[in-house]
Amino acid sequence: MNQEEAKSRIAELFRELEEHNHSYYMLNTSTISDYDFDMMMKELIELEQSFPELASINSPTKRVGGEVSQGFDTVVHKYPMMSLDNTYSIDEVREFDARVRKRLDEAEIGGADLLSYVCELKYDGVAIGITYKNGELVQALTRGDGVSGDDVTANVRTINSIPLFLKGSGFPREFEIRGEIYFPHKAFEELNKAREEQGEPAFANPRNTASGTLKMKDSAEVAKRNLDCFLYSLSGENLPHDNHYDNLIAIKEWGFKLPYVISKPTDLEGVTAFINEWDKGRKDLEYDIDGVVLKVNLKRLQELLGFTAKSPRWAISYKFKAERVSTLLNKITYQVGRTGAITPVANLQPVLLAGTVVKRATLHNADQIAKLDVREGDTVYVEKGGEIIPKIAGVLVDKRMGDSSPAIFIDTCPICSTQLKQKEGEVAHYCPNEGGCPPQIKGKIEHFISRKAMNIDGLGEETIELLFDKNLIADISDLYNLKYEELIELDRFAEKSVQRLLQGITASKNIPFEKVLFALGIRFVGETVAKKLAAHYVTIDRLSTASFGDLIEVEEIGDKIAESVISYFQDESSVKLVNKLKEYGLQFEKVESSANVKSDRLKDLSFVVSGVFKSYSRDELKAEIEANGGRNVSSISSKLNYLLAGDNMGPSKLEKANKFNIEIISEDEFKEMIA
Ligand code: IVH
Repeated sequence: MNQEEAKSRIAELFRELEEHNHSYYMLNTSTISDYDFDMMMKELIELEQSFPELASINSPTKRVGGEVSQGFDTVVHKYPMMSLDNTYSIDEVREFDARVRKRLDEAEIGGADLLSYVCELKYDGVAIGITYKNGELVQALTRGDGVSGDDVTANVRTINSIPLFLKGSGFPREFEIRGEIYFPHKAFEELNKAREEQGEPAFANPRNTASGTLKMKDSAEVAKRNLDCFLYSLSGENLPHDNHYDNLIAIKEWGFKLPYVISKPTDLEGVTAFINEWDKGRKDLEYDIDGVVLKVNLKRLQELLGFTAKSPRWAISYKFKAERVSTLLNKITYQVGRTGAITPVANLQPVLLAGTVVKRATLHNADQIAKLDVREGDTVYVEKGGEIIPKIAGVLVDKRMGDSSPAIFIDTCPICSTQLKQKEGEVAHYCPNEGGCPPQIKGKIEHFISRKAMNIDGLGEETIELLFDKNLIADISDLYNLKYEELIELDRFAEKSVQRLLQGITASKNIPFEKVLFALGIRFVGETVAKKLAAHYVTIDRLSTASFGDLIEVEEIGDKIAESVISYFQDESSVKLVNKLKEYGLQFEKVESSANVKSDRLKDLSFVVSGVFKSYSRDELKAEIEANGGRNVSSISSKLNYLLAGDNMGPSKLEKANKFNIEIISEDEFKEMIA
């Protein structure tokens, strides 16, 4: 294929892949099988590798992320990003309407007769401004201070519902589209489930998490989190229509995700009906909204009305009341999680809120208690906004008893009395007594036996509690020492259940290494990380002696995970535990060793593997290199023989390789070398 042919095929693949993407993510219909989609993607990756000069920054291959930024550039907004004035009652909305009409009347163009509104939902996420030039996404900026924002383009490219190329025609040569990036409830719940599995505290609120995610440095991480985006306004010259409503309809044709709910009411009654409908209806939506936005439809009238220093005079938001009640805070207690993290909990006089009786609400951490200055005996506001868990929103200070004093966060563990610690850069307090603090031990055992870990049948939370209380288990390894005679004595156990439990425990000795590694509950080592580590190190002995530098070379292992693994194996009690489990016969070695020797074709040759590949993962390539007698090294120096370059490789590596005159080879060339 020559360059001209490649160019046209690439353009065709771009179009087709984005078209299928659009159908899947926006229209909820599959127009192609996963296999055929992957094949087209593969073809595109191959073409981009063979013709690097044709690779575009907006290629559909960029959806998976890969670009890692050191920080975000601050860029001045072409059109300042203002905010909306808030109203909290229908009366205030009526006043807004009267103000608008008065100004339009004063302008004496008969504007008030032309007046109509558009009602939209007010999405509770993070504002984003995305610029398109010649139909291609070129830049995405956060709101920042409204005058300038952070350039988060690489992260925004990973959001599947945001088109990289526009469909159809009639879009201006250059324009900015604004919208709200948000966490769909489902994606947020999946993220929290994964975090809990890794022993990380769950995120409390989808909006803040969306904002944090958008500022992550590794766009591949952003890609995994499944953010979404609704668009709500268009700025630029030569917009297709003279009114906001039709412009919104037009963006749908260009491939944007138009909010499902918009309305063009003819009068204030219609506005009120929309507000009431969605105040009730919001609990059934798959995303959070915190109000309704009312906008003057005609652009001409918008221009006439203009802006105040902070916000447009042609739009207003109506904020829903967060459902909130007041009640007495009886006591602050503290919970200890599996990882030792301490969560303060407000124990409340039971109160009805949004249809459920609330007895407890989270206080998150010591900072939150101090910020609210919440004290035992206070009357507090409990709120259920978009968030799933009720929270303490404030204190009714007037009702405070004269003799109250500020809450003092505990400094020792409420269960085992060990002095608490704070980790650098984290707000949470931890009980460091991992091996001796009962909720931590029980939590670790629960994790160990869980379905995705050792999958031991016949054991549940209550049984673990019982066995622990009867001193039959004091750590994970004691499970393997449980005896029939001991168990049959216990109230809960009949013959059958004892047999089932003992069989489950014996069967778990065949569970593969990667699951055992996950089951150990090393902080930040979730299922996927455990798989990667097991594939790379093959045995626990190799993993336990790996250095920090070595660990971070493994695909998907960053500083945080590497540090956690190192500190786990530095702890004498973990080493003892692993040794005991080894003696009981658990699998600490991956069975099919990837270190099989295949040839010595790469003898004396060194390789750096970088980027994303089509038919291998980086680890598989490294295993191939070793299996053929070659050596993997982590950094580029003048002594290096080959840079094996995949897609999305960082520019600095390429630069360095060129500087030292290192031969750069593609995946296909590598395959030929070992064939
Ligand atoms: S229009 C001049 N429409 O609410 C501002 N904003 O305080 C025009 N928002 O930061 C904004 N849903 O991020 C508009 N349907 C909607 C919206 C919306 C959410 C956010 C937006 C802005 C904030 C306004």
